[in-house]
Amino acid sequence: MVGLRGRCISVCWHLDSKPTEEKARMLPAGVFLVLSCWVVSLVLGVPPIETQPEQVHISYPGLHGSMMVSWTTFSEADSMVEYGLLGGKLFELVAKGSSAVFVDGGSEKRKLFIHRVMLTRLKPGSTYVYHCGSEAGWSNIFYFTALNESSDWSPRFALFGDMGNKNPQSLARLQKETQVGMYDVILHIGDFAYDMDEDNARIGDEFMRQIESIAAYVPYMTCPGNHENNYNFSNYKNRFSMPGDTEGLWYSWNVGPAHIISFSTEVYFYVDYGLDLIVKQYEWLRNDLEQANKPENRKSRPWVITMGHRPMYCSNNDSDDCTLFESLVQLVEAYNFVLISGVDLELWAHEHTYERLWPVYGFMVYNGSKEEPYVNPKAPVHIITGSAGCREKHDGFIPDPRDWSAFRNSDYGYTRMQVFNSTHLYIEQVSDDQNGKVIDSMWLVKDQHGAAAWA
Ligand SMILES: *[C@@H]1O[C@H](CO)[C@@H](O)[C@H](O)[C@H]1NC(C)=O
Ligand SMILES: *[C@@H]1O[C@H](CO)[C@@H](O)[C@H](O)[C@H]1NC(C)=O
Ligand SMILES: *[C@@H]1O[C@H](CO)[C@@H](O)[C@H](O)[C@H]1NC(C)=O
Ligand SMILES: *[C@@H]1O[C@H](CO)[C@@H](O)[C@H](O)[C@H]1NC(C)=O
Ligand SMILES: *[C@@H]1O[C@H](CO)[C@@H](O)[C@H](O)[C@H]1NC(C)=O
Ligand SMILES: [Fe+2]
Repeated sequence: MVGLRGRCISVCWHLDSKPTEEKARMLPAGVFLVLSCWVVSLVLGVPPIETQPEQVHISYPGLHGSMMVSWTTFSEADSMVEYGLLGGKLFELVAKGSSAVFVDGGSEKRKLFIHRVMLTRLKPGSTYVYHCGSEAGWSNIFYFTALNESSDWSPRFALFGDMGNKNPQSLARLQKETQVGMYDVILHIGDFAYDMDEDNARIGDEFMRQIESIAAYVPYMTCPGNHENNYNFSNYKNRFSMPGDTEGLWYSWNVGPAHIISFSTEVYFYVDYGLDLIVKQYEWLRNDLEQANKPENRKSRPWVITMGHRPMYCSNNDSDDCTLFESLVQLVEAYNFVLISGVDLELWAHEHTYERLWPVYGFMVYNGSKEEPYVNPKAPVHIITGSAGCREKHDGFIPDPRDWSAFRNSDYGYTRMQVFNSTHLYIEQVSDDQNGKVIDSMWLVKDQHGAAAWA
């Protein structure tokens, strides 16, 4: 095949190099030759392998009526999304974007083309059918529903951390539940693939193909974990497309009545990559919380929720950094503005277990009341959910947890959350080991948000 194509190209080239009048005389033969080259290359040539889109996923860029579509090819190709309303004319709209070359840090220096196309002016609540790619190859067909922009809306989340390419126990359940429309958003709270950079980033490719079955349908929002650290988090920063201009390290966005802050706990651990990142994130976080707490903002988005990979508190027995001594992540609490700005809920992962805490600050429990600890609590509530499944399997617990620990379970599983309205937020834990059984649930009820609520 290569031979045939090569010969065809050389004949065409030969024809091209002839003086014009000679070409004119040869025209009928020339036309025939050009045509047959074209036909041969159509039949035999350039199957879209390297330019075939794969690893399709979407994310919410934080702008009204928008959605970001990202995917990978292994050689250069255009970046287009063709889309249209479900039930309407297929692919009647087209949006163009661009690709960036990502060179993995491994010995092979593999080159990936990461494509990003932002869709705008989407109708909130409407479902769109799309595919992505270029004339050199199109993806499968997927669909998503543009987020409802109303702060009265009640978004439904699936959330978890620590899901690997091997042993991703919760993935099958998440695939089915996502595809039947149970979730509006997925939060993956750090630690992907184990690890994305391994085998010259082929593990990253495999993992991104695995999660396409969920991440191409609902916005897949992320934060970095320790397993992303190699080559300065380059696989994480390049493969995902989060809001803002910090390569997904820290950002915030609004959905329904919630303001969601994602940040990197890893800046405290991988200081070789730059101590300045601690300061930059600190400044950003302080400013973001200040904005979120402006009365008009807190009124429409009363819930302030954070997500970061490594927890401040946990009761695991793996000699990790939050059980035996104070985690470096405690620094965030030490900043104090978490309390001053009344963060309602803090979501974590990293420990391969599920743990729910009583409202806690500075290692002290501040229940709303003894009978109803989560009704008007006087401190943030923490949830640790890192048991989605990975090659490192489960973690265990210490026998006697501190008094801030309310519920612990080490089954594989993931968490569901719905922010109902300005006063009610619901969380439940699904055990994959027990066939999807709900093993824990909590209603967090707040009549008042912000620092005033702690009084
Ligand atoms: C958005 O959600 C609100 C609150 O549930 C609802 O009243 C409204 O109809 C929704 N908008 C769309 C376009 O679905
Ligand atoms: C690591 O990445 C961060 C964020 O992209 C960058 O600011 C920093 O300079 C990088 N550090 C090194 C040592 O390359
Ligand atoms: C918080 O509430 C729970 C549930 O009622 C209770 O078991 C625990 O002792 C309370 N903690 C404190 C410090 O009051
Ligand atoms: C931690 O707990 C698990 C489960 O209870 C147990 O199997 C494991 O041996 C414990 N590990 C350590 C280091 O104590
Ligand atoms: C919020 O939602 C909860 C649960 O559906 C409901 O009981 C409550 O009345 C609602 N509160 C407001 C202020 O709408
Ligand atoms: Fe981790």
